[in-house]
Amino acid sequence: MEIFTVLRILCEVLDNFLSGISAEAEQQNASNQALSAGKVVSTDPPYYDNIGYADLSEFFYVWLRRSLKSVYPDLFATLAVPKAEELVATPHRHGSKEKAEAFFLDGMTRAMHCLPGQAHPAFPVTIYYAFKQSESDGGEGTASTGWDTFLDAVIRAGFAISGTWPMRTELTVALKKHIGALASSIVLVCRPRVVDALIATRREFLTALKAELPVALAHLQRGNIAPVDLAQAAIGPGMAVYTRYASVLDAEGNELTVRQALSLINQTLDEVLAEQDGDFDSDTRWAVTWFDQFGFVEGDYGTAEQLSKSKNTSVGGMEEAGILASRAGKVRLLRPSELPADWDPGRDRRLTVWEMVHQLIRVLEAGGESAAGALVAKLGSQAEVARELAYRLYTICERKKRAPEALSYNGLVQSWPEITRLARDIDKSGPQLEQASFVR
Ligand SMILES: C[S@@+](CC[C@H](N)C(=O)[O-])C[C@H]1O[C@@H](n2cnc3c(N)ncnc32)[C@H](O)[C@@H]1O
Repeated sequence: MEIFTVLRILCEVLDNFLSGISAEAEQQNASNQALSAGKVVSTDPPYYDNIGYADLSEFFYVWLRRSLKSVYPDLFATLAVPKAEELVATPHRHGSKEKAEAFFLDGMTRAMHCLPGQAHPAFPVTIYYAFKQSESDGGEGTASTGWDTFLDAVIRAGFAISGTWPMRTELTVALKKHIGALASSIVLVCRPRVVDALIATRREFLTALKAELPVALAHLQRGNIAPVDLAQAAIGPGMAVYTRYASVLDAEGNELTVRQALSLINQTLDEVLAEQDGDFDSDTRWAVTWFDQFGFVEGDYGTAEQLSKSKNTSVGGMEEAGILASRAGKVRLLRPSELPADWDPGRDRRLTVWEMVHQLIRVLEAGGESAAGALVAKLGSQAEVARELAYRLYTICERKKRAPEALSYNGLVQSWPEITRLARDIDKSGPQLEQASFVR
């Protein structure tokens, strides 16, 4: 970010400060502080190994120390920034990856322990956590050391997680947009765990997950959560189920770890998203399954034809519908840039949700939100289901590490509120498509 942008933001904050209200700031080690007694606590702890704040601060500290040592003698007592107590899992400071993880877990558990007993009982403790879970863990599916080590500490401290609030805290500057970083911070809402919580079996845990995650997911999607944040946001409702129990036991009587629970939450989330496929037309259902396996690259005609039978459609029909190309025994889905620029959904006799999403991406990328708004105005109420498909395709791309496509689907959902606002402005009473134009 440019220095002038930073200065402007700082000035805006100062302009909007409420005057006449006093505040106090005090520096203490979070692992053994008593400051939180009787207070409403909202904290933004360090994110595992994300940022070495102490090392970074060194750059400013040496200069600040010169000018401010006489004003804050305690804060600037040391020659360099103190580092030993910093809760960050940096192998170079602790000797190895394992020791760094153990240091973080121990320190974070102690820091969290200070909270449930002290914080004001009428309010939940809220914890910001903007760490992206992305590691793939062999057979166990997707899990993340950063998340499970942190959640482990929160749970060991005696908290139950009652929810997660995705919150816009970050500026989506160009750099972040292109690395698929989180668009929101996830706020974990925590309350002390009830003492007489029940023990559950793995099966009971899974049944509760399958019952509760679809409702939570629909709620998040209605709020237009960015696809890139969906998996993190689902941790909340999933962990709310896990921490409702004193423990969850597998068939051998072993306790399910936080890591295993996270894995099951991600797996259930995938299943719930896949169940939404029932809302799509046959061609789109075929395309989603094909896309999962091949993306936009070629596959065998025979495989495509066989799959089309199980989805109640045909390769020839889908070629006619304009979503794929079939030549010399090979089949591939058309990329947004290959779709016809003069597409008019009102005259499309075989309209599919697949086509809508990819035409919307083509138009959005070529002509911006107002052009996409004009297309949504033509699609009318049918457009809403396109957003659902964009979520589904984003999760496939994330799992398969197809970054450029993931970015397009994420971009479409993120622009959705503006696109639909523009669509409403363009033509509130214009002709809209009938539901019947879908081929089911
Ligand atoms: C994610 S950052 C918070 C950033 C802050 N919300 C902001 O906008 O500037 C985590 C902070 O925790 C601090 N921290 C790390 N270990 C700590 C400890 N043992 N006690 C207190 N604070 C610690 C880091 O120095 C860092 O400033």
